[in-house]
Amino acid sequence: MKLMRSPTDSGRENADNATVDQIELFNGKKVTLRGWVASLRSSGKICFLQLRDGTGIIQCVADLQSLGADRFQELTGASLETSLVIEGVVREDKRSKIGFEIGLSDFKIFKKSEEYPIAKKEHGVAFLMENRHLWLRSSRQVAVLRVRSEIIRAVRDYFDGRGFYLVDSPILTPNACEGTSTLFETPYFDTTAYLTQSGQLYGEASAMALGKIYCFGPTFRAEKSKTRRHLAEFWMVEPEVAFMDLEGDMDLAEDFIEYVVQRTLRNRRRELEFLERKLEPLERVKKPFPRITYEAAIQILKDSGNPAKFGDDFGGDEETIISQRFDRPVMIHHYPMAIKAFYMKQDPERPDLARCVDVIAPEGYGEIIGGGQREDDLEKLKARIEEHKLPMEAFQWYMDLRKFGSVPHAGFGLGIERTVAWITGVPHVRETIPFPRMMEKIFP
Ligand code: 4AD
Ligand code: MG
Repeated sequence: MKLMRSPTDSGRENADNATVDQIELFNGKKVTLRGWVASLRSSGKICFLQLRDGTGIIQCVADLQSLGADRFQELTGASLETSLVIEGVVREDKRSKIGFEIGLSDFKIFKKSEEYPIAKKEHGVAFLMENRHLWLRSSRQVAVLRVRSEIIRAVRDYFDGRGFYLVDSPILTPNACEGTSTLFETPYFDTTAYLTQSGQLYGEASAMALGKIYCFGPTFRAEKSKTRRHLAEFWMVEPEVAFMDLEGDMDLAEDFIEYVVQRTLRNRRRELEFLERKLEPLERVKKPFPRITYEAAIQILKDSGNPAKFGDDFGGDEETIISQRFDRPVMIHHYPMAIKAFYMKQDPERPDLARCVDVIAPEGYGEIIGGGQREDDLEKLKARIEEHKLPMEAFQWYMDLRKFGSVPHAGFGLGIERTVAWITGVPHVRETIPFPRMMEKIFP
């Protein structure tokens, strides 16, 4: 029995390197699988072991007669989460959820597990969060993480396949991008640095060098809000395009979201079904998405009895009310300048409004995209930096972009965790990232 896996082979090629998700390729053949005990029961003569290998769970059946009394006893004594390698023949089984089971003929236990703290019984969220490093092994968490991995792959493939260059923006930065109230400060040699809130400003410089770029990395906000949509560390993908206006930005956002959702549906349907996600609302996520102005959104809120008035920003409740009016993501554009970041392009026809857009996910999952056209006029940008009381010195380099061949340009940022929450139907972002960082939460 081959104990170690062959990590460079796909798992499709060799039966001694099989995985549960591809088990149908080996029907009738002897395979080797490596994993952990997800559950085990024995009748005294037959033992049913559910083996979890990270790609799925499969039932392995062993019998006393063919294993011999000693080995049978060793197997039935394996506790939950014991690590082992098994060998056996794959056979079709109509009763199995995955259609196959294994007739176990040999096994080797790596290490018997101590008593596993996460049992089948219901645990509270606080307990599960303290044991996040183990909670990750549960089928639900594994399914969410597989969907997350596919969403990230789709994001990269989308941009890589359309002439965008990946440009990594720095994480340690000398100044704020999204307001000064949510900055994480850190000592930096003889001065102070901040963890980045967004790669956008560096993305703009890179777009002036490369035309179409995207940056993709962790971003940090010291959000003092304990909501189901806020993390202190989250991943954001940010495209930025030279010679693109707000309308182009909205075209890009809807095309991108349609691609990511439809591809995830295609490639991770099994996981979404396991998570009991309703698929029909996701199937409907096709272009064109509704585009409404901020003022129209205020009207929708008023009509539903919400006290919102011009000049208010939207919170989770408002976003939910608006999203319920539409059967796909809705793009809200032209917010008041006063409630948006300093870099937003002022609309020449409505100087009180910004040429910006937020995309709100359906079914109450909230804002997933924020973006828009950037102020490309040097004097206007200067005035905005002053208004926002930002240190002019720190933004010299950013203003240079308006001095040396300034062009209309635009982009947006999509939050990965909120997108994963929406697509998987998981209500809280804490389950959409392996190790969530939130206010009052940094362990493990
Ligand atoms: O709307 P935001 O703040 O936009 C920006 O940061 C722009 N600089 C992006 C750009 O134009 N390049 O954030 C963008 C998205 C939000 O729509 C949301 O999905 C996510 O990032 N986000 C968060 N996700 C989890 N926790 C938080 N605290 C988040 N804050 C923003
Ligand atoms: Mg926003």
